[in-house]
Amino acid sequence: MLVPVLLSGGVGSRLWPVSRELHPKQLLPLAGEMSMLQATLQRTAGLEAAAPLVVCNEEHRFMVAEQLRQITIEPTALILEPAGRNTAPAVALAALHLQATDPEAIMLVLPADHLIQQVEAFTEAVACALPLAQTGRLMTFGVVPSKPETGYGYIRRGNELGADVYELDRFVEKPDEATARGYLESGEFLWNSGMFLLRADAYLAELERHAPAMLEACREAMAGAATDMDFVRPEAAAFNRCPADSIDYAVMEHTGAGGVVALDCGWSDIGAWSALWEVGAQDASGNVTSGDVLLDNCSNSYFRSDSRLVAATGVENLVVVETADAVLVADRDQVQNVKRIVTALKAGQ
Ligand code: GDD
Ligand code: MG
Repeated sequence: MLVPVLLSGGVGSRLWPVSRELHPKQLLPLAGEMSMLQATLQRTAGLEAAAPLVVCNEEHRFMVAEQLRQITIEPTALILEPAGRNTAPAVALAALHLQATDPEAIMLVLPADHLIQQVEAFTEAVACALPLAQTGRLMTFGVVPSKPETGYGYIRRGNELGADVYELDRFVEKPDEATARGYLESGEFLWNSGMFLLRADAYLAELERHAPAMLEACREAMAGAATDMDFVRPEAAAFNRCPADSIDYAVMEHTGAGGVVALDCGWSDIGAWSALWEVGAQDASGNVTSGDVLLDNCSNSYFRSDSRLVAATGVENLVVVETADAVLVADRDQVQNVKRIVTALKAGQ
């Protein structure tokens, strides 16, 4: 059984002021008409998969349930985290939930904030990874890098296992710029897309090996879980004791059982405003605009207006995002630092 497992727990702070804690980026229509969560779910339609599992924060449950209803998707369950513990525990909760009915269920782990332009190529890559995942290999999807991005994990390809499929030789989460540059030049590395194909029991066995305290806390939380219609609530005290870590640091950097499928499907992680500039429809001067925007002699910039006219003249390489209660102005090369603004705002509360 192939089960899409959607990770929808992030807050998207680099996409402030549009993304907010109660309305995070994955629940917003940032890159199209549907929210990114809805688009991610729609993308699994061609896969002959079982109903999806969504792992999200307790506070987002009604929005998530409503968004699934809008696109007529009946989830197997919405697993509600009392607080985020990062992706390794989130995937563990899903694996433990599936274990009750099908320990060998194959989880297609999908972050809810990615854009994929060629869905067919994505579907093919999943089909390509499936037989290996069925043998217990922890499969990742690797994108050919186009720049020394430091916001992604890198995978060094190992021996070829088949067309476009390799052993995972080495996994390095978020290297510094000099290291990333070396990786790019070597031609041996792929970006970790953050999507995984994992047999539930194989993932739990790797967690047992590399992060036993995390597995123990998640086991306890699911043993005491409360179910209320589609909502599954892990026992809060046990889950709050769980160490926080990403699947990349907790498992993928250590596993000897990894594999990677090369993926070429127009993939982007919509992590910061620059990503929306990159994937948007640029005019002749390289500007991408959304909403009521008037530009004169501007270039290579992203402008978004949600509630008022935004006008600009003579600027380049900017990001300007206007909402009813806040306006962001940033250098397009420094948009990763928007996170710092959000931290400063929180500190001032
Ligand atoms: N349910 C749940 N709970 N989901 C979570 C949690 C959590 O505590 N924390 C993060 N997520 C979700 C986010 O909403 C997102 O969809 C996904 O998991 C990945 O988290 P990010 O915080 O966006 O990770 P990242 O972008 O820094 O890095 C990961 O993705 C990159 C590609 O986009 C890593 O896997 C990198 O190696 C990878 O290159
Ligand atoms: Mg991300």
